[in-house]
Amino acid sequence: MQAILRTTYGSSDILKFMETDKPVPKDNQILIKVSAASVNPLDWHVLRGDPFLIRLMGFGILKPKHKIIGADMSGTVEAVGKDVTQFKTGDEVFGSGMGGFAEYACIPESRAVIKPASMSFEQAAAVPIAGVTALQALRDHGKLQSRQHLLINGASGGVGTFAVQIAKAMGAEVTGVCSGKNLELVKSIGADHLIDYTKDDFWLSGTEYDLILDNAAFNPISKSLSALRKGGIYIGIGGSSDTLSIFLSMIFNPLIAKMKGRKVASFIADINQTELSFIKELMENGKIEPVIGRSYTLRETPEAIKYVETGHARGKVVITLD
Ligand SMILES: NC(=O)c1ccc[n+]([C@@H]2O[C@H](COP(=O)([O-])OP(=O)(O)OC[C@H]3O[C@@H](n4cnc5c(N)ncnc54)[C@H](OP(=O)(O)O)[C@@H]3O)[C@@H](O)[C@H]2O)c1
Repeated sequence: MQAILRTTYGSSDILKFMETDKPVPKDNQILIKVSAASVNPLDWHVLRGDPFLIRLMGFGILKPKHKIIGADMSGTVEAVGKDVTQFKTGDEVFGSGMGGFAEYACIPESRAVIKPASMSFEQAAAVPIAGVTALQALRDHGKLQSRQHLLINGASGGVGTFAVQIAKAMGAEVTGVCSGKNLELVKSIGADHLIDYTKDDFWLSGTEYDLILDNAAFNPISKSLSALRKGGIYIGIGGSSDTLSIFLSMIFNPLIAKMKGRKVASFIADINQTELSFIKELMENGKIEPVIGRSYTLRETPEAIKYVETGHARGKVVITLD
């Protein structure tokens, strides 16, 4: 099969488009003939092994464990492991695992669901990490309620475009923060208010939000907390990827928030069938639609990763296979 391969940690320049063996599913895995994959910031972190923390999470300390990266994918089941009970050859599915930047990939059945016929392979591949992160941030960590006022910093990227739509489906009032070129997009997916971060600082808007979802936490936390009402919740999911900054913010952010009478949360999304099915239902009911900003061929995957690594992707970036 054709795939995007690497043997060491490094930038997208080390990736090679070449022939390799088709993977064989383990007992609990399904083998997918990949139709589409999507690119997440996680992919370039796994590619570089940076922050170092990621190497400790099972990706390999000195050498990468996975030669083929790519977490989110959709396609058709070609074979199943002996313990798989929910899928059969020919099923159209989407889910998350590792190895999606290739013609074939194996993922555990527990991280895949059936793709509805109404959903394209590209739309389905766009969902897993970004969609589930947005859902768990708002519903579980933010405890978002109808009519609450939520601010989403970084509203035009992968997580942001899902979060705006999920929040609107939950009945919230949404302020979306993005750069000027993306204001129209964020408005078109339902944001009630917009702030262009290249012109205005959201913490100076004079509004006190119930919840802030920060996908681009590059500002001192004290500024973001000052835009929250007392008791409000700040959820930081993205920002600096420097190990020391992550470590310091894990220690000091909750202390600073406590002193100011606010709460902070951060988490790693848990991708599973229940959450994928929840988002699938929202899509089938027309409540949300993935925003696909760019699409690339498999051979062009290194460019797609480079683009996501800029931190300014518009919606989701998708890899389409023949
Ligand atoms: N904890 C988890 O489980 C988890 C899961 C998924 C993602 N993440 C993290 O969450 C972050 C967002 O992920 P993503 O997939 O949405 O990334 P993405 O698609 O690359 O989107 C990033 C967004 O941030 C915006 N942005 C960049 N600089 C900004 C600034 N200074 N102020 C406000 N917005 C700014 C960009 O908008 P403009 O183009 O308009 O600048 C872009 O829309 C990443 O850091 C990722 O690693 C964490």
